[in-house]
Formats: sequence, C-alpha cells, structure tokens
Amino acid sequence: MTEILNRTERDILHAAALLRDGKLVAFGTETVYGLGADATNALAVAAVFEAKGRPRFNPLICHYASAEAAFTDVLASPLAERLANTFWPGPLTLVLPRRETCPVALLAGAGLHTLAVRVPAHPVAQRLIAALGRPVAAPSANRSGGVSPTTAAHVLAGLEGRIAAVIESGPCRVGLESTVLDLSGPTPCLLRPGGVNVEALEASIGCQLSVISHQADAPHSPGMMLSHYAPRLPLRINATSLGPHEALLAFGPPLPGARLTFQLSESKNLNEAAAKLFDGLHWLDHTAPPQNLTAIAAMPIPTHAIGRAINDRLTRAAHPL
Ligand code: TXA
Ligand code: MG
Repeated sequence: MTEILNRTERDILHAAALLRDGKLVAFGTETVYGLGADATNALAVAAVFEAKGRPRFNPLICHYASAEAAFTDVLASPLAERLANTFWPGPLTLVLPRRETCPVALLAGAGLHTLAVRVPAHPVAQRLIAALGRPVAAPSANRSGGVSPTTAAHVLAGLEGRIAAVIESGPCRVGLESTVLDLSGPTPCLLRPGGVNVEALEASIGCQLSVISHQADAPHSPGMMLSHYAPRLPLRINATSLGPHEALLAFGPPLPGARLTFQLSESKNLNEAAAKLFDGLHWLDHTAPPQNLTAIAAMPIPTHAIGRAINDRLTRAAHPL
C-alpha cells in the first residue's frame, strides 16, 4: 500500500522519517513529481531503480535545499555559481564533478565521476529536503520510459504499491522536467531542454550552447534516449489533418473532425501548454481507447522558449520503442 500524505508539517516530517528509513516517497516539485530516496543510502537508491524499472546506467538528479549545500558535494566553477544565483531555486539541473567527500551513493550517479544537482523551487520539495537534512535523489515518479507525472494521481497510476508514500503537492507549475546543463567539460553543453529556456541560459552564459544530439545507442545523458516519455497509444506529431481513429492534442483552434480533443492552450500560450502536456498525454491514453480511437495526433507547436522542451518531449514520445 502506498500512503497518501498531505502538505502538513506532521506529514512532511513523517515523509522525511520514511526516507531516513530507506523508503521511497514521491513528492511534488515545480517541474514534475519526483520519486525520492535518501541519496546517501545505496540500498534506497537501488530501490528507486527497481520501482521505476529504470536501467542502472541512467543516473539520478540529487536535490538540495540550497546551492551552498549542493556545492559541498560537487565542485562549482564560477559559471556554475553564477547560474545557481540566477536560476536556483528553479528548474535547472547542473552536471558537475563530484567532490571526493561527496556522501551520495555512487549508484545514484550510475558510477560517473559527475553528479547532477538541483535546488527545486516547490515548497513541499524544499521542506522535505530540509527535514531530511540530506540530499534527495529523485528521478521523475513514473515507470521508466513512460509519461512523467504532474499530479499525485499520475504517480499512483504508475507506482501504487511500489513506493511507501506520495505527498499530495498539487499540480506542477512548470509541467516539464528541468533543463539539464553539463558544466563538467571544457564548454557548457545542453543535455536536455526543460523548464529554464535555452534563450535565458544563453543570455546568462553569454554564448551559444552546444547541444548533445539524440543518440539511441551511446547516450551522453542517458535520459536523452530517443524513445521516452511515451504514452501507450502511438503518437503522431506536427499533424495538420486528422485520421478517423485519431484523438487530438490541440494547440490553438482544433483541427476539424476531432472526436476527442485535449486542448493544450486555446490562446497558444507555450507556458500553459507545457504545464498541461503530460496531463494531456495521460488523459488521452486512457480516454481514447474506449471511444475506439487508437492513436494521438499532436498539432504543431513553435520551437522557441519552452516550446523547444515541449517539442523535445513530443518527438521522443512519438518515437517507436
Ligand atoms: O525536473 C526534473 O529534473 C525532475 C524532478 C523530479 O527534479 N527529475 C527528472 O529526473 O526529470 P530524471 O531521472 O527523469 O531525469 C534526469 C536526467 C536524465 O536525463 C539523466 O540521464 C540526466 O538527468 N543525468 C543525471 N545525472 C547525470 C550525469 N551525471 N551526467 C549526465 N546526465 C545526467
Ligand atoms: Mg524521467
């Protein structure tokens, strides 16, 4: 049984006690729900991979209460400090070299010499990490390869019975995962577009970012695997017309002939579309089949600002396994 906890002080302390005890607790962040474990407990971290069905070569992000706490475990360059000042707490993950004293279980970083760290902006996440007093390793709280959760109900649909508890933290404000930036090499490298727009990062860094291209076989960042974030139904992107058995993921005025539509943003607001994207995929996945609809068609979405991250997720959701 998975306990459903609330945002009360008492429940957060209980959740922290579960984590201290090596159990897994899902909690809200501003991006998506995370599946948390005490990052310093190798057995608890192993249980995260087990509960998600996640390949062990795919490292986890460690969540900290402050930049200061994060930078005691990883080596921060001046650029890392500047970005942390600008974007933390918030949806930016920095990949940096581990310090020798770093207490995070090696398994959390999949044995790499680097560690992905972030300071989340959600009050539930912040209070939970502070109550534990240790870093919290947390991937998105979904089965590996599936659609990330933006509500506690999504978490339970995928992980009920596999985790000790979920903290009902409300819907996630950003709705897409954090931007992952690798600062461990000679030049900053974008591993995953996400909640912090690339334009904002480049303005802050003062140069264009190099980007890791999708590579199914030799992923630089294993989360860059081509098929990912996938709903059960096949997904077709950039649709300009609709087949008879397709449900519609709309952005702006819907295509004609849709029998079932999930509207990402009537007014074509990209932030609204990002916040609703995963909810839309979850909803269409279980609402379409009973109506004899066997696929999802997604309308085109611009690629600027957070539209870049939306298109990244849709492209990978559309890629066959
Ligand atoms: O918004 C988010 O980032 C959410 C919330 C819960 O914080 N977490 C999340 O975690 O999306 P996950 O595990 O689903 O994605 C982590 C990504 C993966 O693409 C992983 O490969 C990459 O970060 N990553 C983690 N550690 C890394 C490292 N040391 N080097 C390169 N990539 C790393
Ligand atoms: Mg994930």
